[in-house]
Amino acid sequence: METRTEINNWSDTITIRKMQKSDLPALEWDGEYTRFRDVYLMEFERSQIGSSILWVADLPDHGVIGQLFVQLNAERQELANGHSRAYMYAFRIKPPYRGVGLGTRMMNIMESDLVRRGFNWVSLNVGKTNYSARRLYSRLGYRVIAHEAGRWSYRDEKGILQNVEEPAWRMEKFISPSL
Ligand SMILES: CC(C)(COP(=O)(O)OP(=O)(O)OC[C@H]1O[C@@H](n2cnc3c(N)ncnc32)[C@H](O)[C@@H]1OP(=O)(O)O)[C@@H](O)C(=O)NCCC(=O)NCCS
Repeated sequence: METRTEINNWSDTITIRKMQKSDLPALEWDGEYTRFRDVYLMEFERSQIGSSILWVADLPDHGVIGQLFVQLNAERQELANGHSRAYMYAFRIKPPYRGVGLGTRMMNIMESDLVRRGFNWVSLNVGKTNYSARRLYSRLGYRVIAHEAGRWSYRDEKGILQNVEEPAWRMEKFISPSL
């Protein structure tokens, strides 16, 4: 495994860019997230019609090592309403690359992009037991505003319906060019 010093040198070479269709296999992380294959394809298609923005962190010679998705519009308008509020989700960095500021960088880029698009608020859900992610969001100015039952379902790569229950806190942040 690489040392932190090596990763820090490499972190300067990382590009944070919009996801392309050819990145889809990389999001499966060597099998860990194969179950989300169809979900990611659907998300990619939504991004093509402008409903969402999918960010990836690309490390030369390694490929995609992080992702962060944003819905601009959602069925639940309290999460994303298409003009002032967007919803961040599916945020993860590969374990060897965590803790050196990449997640923070991705969130800053996501927020600046939303401000440019005229959005003022970002919402997100964080699992109630995901203390480290919650600490990161709090440090970046997100505040807990509601409880979320966290029930959702998806079809896995075999077409089998999977039900998920992940009790979460909904957090939000006001974003504006002046902040
Ligand atoms: C949550 C997640 C995306 C954060 O990514 P990350 O790249 O580790 O984030 P950062 O490096 O910017 O920040 C993590 C911590 O490292 C610290 N850090 C950042 N740069 C650092 C550096 N150069 N040296 C030491 N520490 C540093 C940050 O201060 C932060 O600490 P804090 O949480 O106490 O504020 C990542 O941990 C992850 O993938 N987790 C699993 C999936 C997950 O839980 N996703 C969130 C779902 S809601």
